[in-house]
Amino acid sequence: MTTELRVVRGDIVTLDVDAVVNAANTTLLGGRGVDGAIHYAAGPALMEACRAIGGCPTGEARITPGFNLPARWIIHTVGPVWKGGDRGEPRLLAACYENSLLLAKSHKLRTVAFPAISTGAYAYPPALAAGIAIDSIRRFVAAASDLEQVLLCCYSGEDASTYKRALRMEAGGARGDR
Ligand code: APR
Repeated sequence: MTTELRVVRGDIVTLDVDAVVNAANTTLLGGRGVDGAIHYAAGPALMEACRAIGGCPTGEARITPGFNLPARWIIHTVGPVWKGGDRGEPRLLAACYENSLLLAKSHKLRTVAFPAISTGAYAYPPALAAGIAIDSIRRFVAAASDLEQVLLCCYSGEDASTYKRALRMEAGGARGDR
């Protein structure tokens, strides 16, 4: 199966996909940004489910139902805080995508939407984060995955342009016309 990887612009809570990925913090008890938006839209039952999980280390992922979201599931992952790039941030960000996709695979999901993990409050440079996101997703789906579609959902037009540019560059590189 060839997995479609696409950049879309919008509010991730509106997407009718099998799972949306939340850019959470290690407590899993909500926050602002996409974390706040997902908790607000999913409703208070999400907080109860997260409380029962009891936290999530950076780079790992946990799954809950989507509750009031159109998405059936929410995969919570915790991105690294950007500290200049030589404190293991690239590997931890890649792990967020890999571990989220592993959970999607184990739940036999077909469509997953990611936000631009770590590029907001955690200050990861969007162009670097986009490259890691696309490379991690491509590597995962190349190893035979049942995913039909992975969406990179960017909230701002600027981020959408950055992620689209990274996707074009990656495609160009794959074709060898970089
Ligand atoms: N839909 C899609 N993307 C969104 C939405 C939304 N509704 N709201 C914000 N974003 C985008 C931001 O514009 C940014 O590009 O998500 C990206 C990630 O930004 P943050 O949500 O700030 O996440 P992150 O940088 O990973 O920081 C995580 O922030 O909210 C707290 O509890 C969270 O402590 C954690 C930290």
